[in-house]
Amino acid sequence: MLVSHTLHWWQKEIIYQVYPRSFKDTSGNGIGDLRGITQKAVYFQWLGVKAVWLSPVYPSPMKDFGYDISDYCNIHPTLGTMEDFDNLLHELHERGIKLIMDLVPNHTSDVHEWFMESRKSKDNPKRDWYIWADPADSGGPPNNWRSEFGGSAWELDSQTGQYYCHSFLKEQPDLNWFNPEVREAMWEVMRFWLNKGVDGFRVDVLWYLIKDRLLRNNPPNPDWEEGMPDHDKLITAFSNDQPEVHDVVEQMRRVVDEYPNRLIIGEIYLPVDKLVMYYGKEPDTGVHLPFNFHLVSTEWDAQQINKLISEYEGALPAGGWPNWVLGNHDKSRIKARVGEDQLFNAALLLLTLRGTPTMYYGDELGMNDVEIPPEKIQDPREFREPGIGVGRDPQRTPMQWNNSKNAGFTNHDPWLPVGADYQTNNVDSLMENQHGLLQFYHDLIALRQKEPALHGGSFHPVGVQNQLLCYRRQHEQSAFFIALNLGKEETSFTPSFKWRGVVEIASNPKRKGEKIENTIHVNGNDGLLIRITGNSEAG
Ligand code: GLC
Repeated sequence: MLVSHTLHWWQKEIIYQVYPRSFKDTSGNGIGDLRGITQKAVYFQWLGVKAVWLSPVYPSPMKDFGYDISDYCNIHPTLGTMEDFDNLLHELHERGIKLIMDLVPNHTSDVHEWFMESRKSKDNPKRDWYIWADPADSGGPPNNWRSEFGGSAWELDSQTGQYYCHSFLKEQPDLNWFNPEVREAMWEVMRFWLNKGVDGFRVDVLWYLIKDRLLRNNPPNPDWEEGMPDHDKLITAFSNDQPEVHDVVEQMRRVVDEYPNRLIIGEIYLPVDKLVMYYGKEPDTGVHLPFNFHLVSTEWDAQQINKLISEYEGALPAGGWPNWVLGNHDKSRIKARVGEDQLFNAALLLLTLRGTPTMYYGDELGMNDVEIPPEKIQDPREFREPGIGVGRDPQRTPMQWNNSKNAGFTNHDPWLPVGADYQTNNVDSLMENQHGLLQFYHDLIALRQKEPALHGGSFHPVGVQNQLLCYRRQHEQSAFFIALNLGKEETSFTPSFKWRGVVEIASNPKRKGEKIENTIHVNGNDGLLIRITGNSEAG
């Protein structure tokens, strides 16, 4: 049994994702900045967040809002200076908060000097740093691969008559990770930030780094229908997740391990069996946390979620530490997905499952997807495939701090509109509401940190009754019973063992302190976290 003091910080603590452009503007240009994040360090501390992950803050033409990097070892002037960055790091560390950088190794911006060199000629020393290929015999792109953002993944460069591969925008050419020089260059980038003292990286599209050497065509997806994203027309059998990627990951891990106590998280959208391969063949040869996004894609249904949890727990390799994500800058807000009534349960689920939780800024306020008027659209995904719901602006809107103009985010026009609910759904107002979602997160995080059973204990499924999902967490003599009613109907459940407990945290505050014996009754949409006090036979 793991004892909490033997856990690493990244196992015990919660990771909080900040989308820098939308967090807090101090310069008055309508775009969030590093100083704004520094200013809010006190908020992270209050909430109990001990690790902050920043989406990219590097110089970038912002074609994909920072995921198109033109200089890996610098700060985008709109967001601040390197001095601002150093101050942020210092301020967070002073408060015991770790800082995780976004690392985007799959592609650079097309104005990165590496690519500008590479495209000059076929014999340029940097030519092979990117994926160049001749046209197909019949003319046109070298193969049928699609960009994640729609259209061919190949762009013709008329100067040399070859195509380059871009898994995302054409302004985001993919690096050739078979090339050892590319690897070395990226390890140096990592060392630059690690030497500064950052605590780790969230690695963008890690499963994309290696593509089929032979550039074979992807097979068609028989389930594709009109209205689905263009990219889904094909099954990505050859354009990502190739076996050699695991050697790259292992090397990357070794670089991070040159420094004590650092973390790598991999962004990986794959089925569970393939996802867990990214922990590495042997212990400590993969990433510490291959992001588990399956709660984002699984239907909000007790049976389905119960099945997902068992499947995921069952697939973890020895020593592989679990993790759970409910939202991020690429996916619809949790509120838009599960509805307001389920927000307390969503918090309970994220924060009581076994493994590291990652929160997305504003989810703790119940921020919703915000409707973006056509003239305010920013995201290239929306422009490329309008109206099919792939645009990501709705979930990237400004953090709602207070009920003043623009929710206290900026005193200028915000780069994306502020949610219409900001007058009530904002940090200041919700801090005053003892029974609101923000306080609920706060209390739950505090309890999770205090209780080894919750941050490090074992996980035991207990059962599902209608929409009532029940499980238990345990560490030595201390144990909790969690019961979440994901449906609208009141449901009762009697586990196969005898037990009693006291409700410690409840979505309905009236139930706090209630004693429970054997049978549990949970109203629709309610969730309970119960400290087991009685002689449970469950252990
Ligand atoms: C990742 C990022 C996303 C970005 C893409 C290309 O999926 O999370 O925002 O557009 O990679 O870098």
